[in-house]
Amino acid sequence: MRNMVNVVSYADGVYARVDEELEVHDLAVVGEIPAALDGMFVQNSPNPYFPPKGAYHWFDGDGMVHAFAIRDGRVHVRNAFVRTAEYEEEEAAGRVLWRNTFGTQPVGGWRSNLGNVMQKNVANTNIIFFGGKLLCLWEAAQPYRLEPATLRTLGLETIDGTLQPGMPFTTGVPALDKAAAGVVGDPLTAHPKVDRGREGEEGGDRLVAYGYRAKASAAALAAGRGAFDSELMLYEFDEAWRVVARRPIELEGFAFVHDFVVTEHYVLWFQNPCDFDPTLYVLGEKNPAQLITYDATRPTLVHVVPRDAASGRAQRTVEIPACFVFHHARGFERGGAEGGAERGGAEGGAPSCEVAPGEERLVVDSVVLEAFPAFDTLTRPPDDADRAALKALDFGAVPINRLTRFEIDLRCKVSRKSKQRTPTRPHSTTYRQLNNLLATT
Ligand SMILES: [Fe+2]
Repeated sequence: MRNMVNVVSYADGVYARVDEELEVHDLAVVGEIPAALDGMFVQNSPNPYFPPKGAYHWFDGDGMVHAFAIRDGRVHVRNAFVRTAEYEEEEAAGRVLWRNTFGTQPVGGWRSNLGNVMQKNVANTNIIFFGGKLLCLWEAAQPYRLEPATLRTLGLETIDGTLQPGMPFTTGVPALDKAAAGVVGDPLTAHPKVDRGREGEEGGDRLVAYGYRAKASAAALAAGRGAFDSELMLYEFDEAWRVVARRPIELEGFAFVHDFVVTEHYVLWFQNPCDFDPTLYVLGEKNPAQLITYDATRPTLVHVVPRDAASGRAQRTVEIPACFVFHHARGFERGGAEGGAERGGAEGGAPSCEVAPGEERLVVDSVVLEAFPAFDTLTRPPDDADRAALKALDFGAVPINRLTRFEIDLRCKVSRKSKQRTPTRPHSTTYRQLNNLLATT
């Protein structure tokens, strides 16, 4: 990003909005496309339907999907907005009606937004193809499903009622949550992982996912850790979208969790030392991401949770020095015996935690920032008519992301190394595979 000389804001250069939806068939081909090349690449990214007027951040844009399809040596491209319910409402009204996460708000300042806590589902963060469904994902709500051949939006995807439509909050009382459907809902992360079927095991591939919800908590208030605790609903779906596993993992305090790690037996969440005070959001003054703060005096917590609650494996939390982790590259298990490591605890005695043989160590490669990049300073300020402040945005000041390897000893130790090359992992998890979608002809 430092070297993109023509980029001065989230609305210029490579970030500039695309205002056309195109369908182009039979692109000119130079040379010959190998006959075996058959399928479609798809990409989803933020693209604001309305040119930004007030405060704006890149991540607020409406989802736009681009598809590049190859079949029988012919190439076709198409792009389309993800037509969420909120998008269609705004398109019909001709103006921004909904609040967003990072900066965008309806015009009128706090007077327009006071007490309105509903967010627009922008469906802009990721796209996956699993179990026959092409889904656009946004972590604070439910996915939108598209028709692969046309990119036509088919509607909100609740996975046969598993996900209740609504916002990523919970009262902590299931009956109350159900009564508040539409406001309180079950979100789905934008970064689920496909766990490839294991040799000798039945069941095929699985989609491992979670939904993050902030839980209003009197206990949290009393303990001085803010207004919220957190709930992470862990899901595993088979290729027919049946729910193979679903259970809530409760964490103390607010957790800004955007991604996670899946290994053969565990999932891992990094809980950054962040807090969230919603007061100015409820008052209509600022949006949620602008109100997240970072406390470098607290450690980052790594929660190691067994995928199978009945496996007998323990859930545990390890602390690492304060840092901010937004994304992970991979994770896998490495057996202590196989790796030649000594068995036994830190002092050479018995292990302090029960672990199964062959999975004493988890290896995680993560993208790490030394501190939280406050969204408020990276958001175009309101009333920036002459774009002066916009042009003052210093992309060079964005903290450096560093690929970092964490080796987590399940006997309750953790070591951290930076900039390591990553070896082949013994068990495969992957982000997405988008082969064999139908090309349009
Ligand atoms: Fe992401």
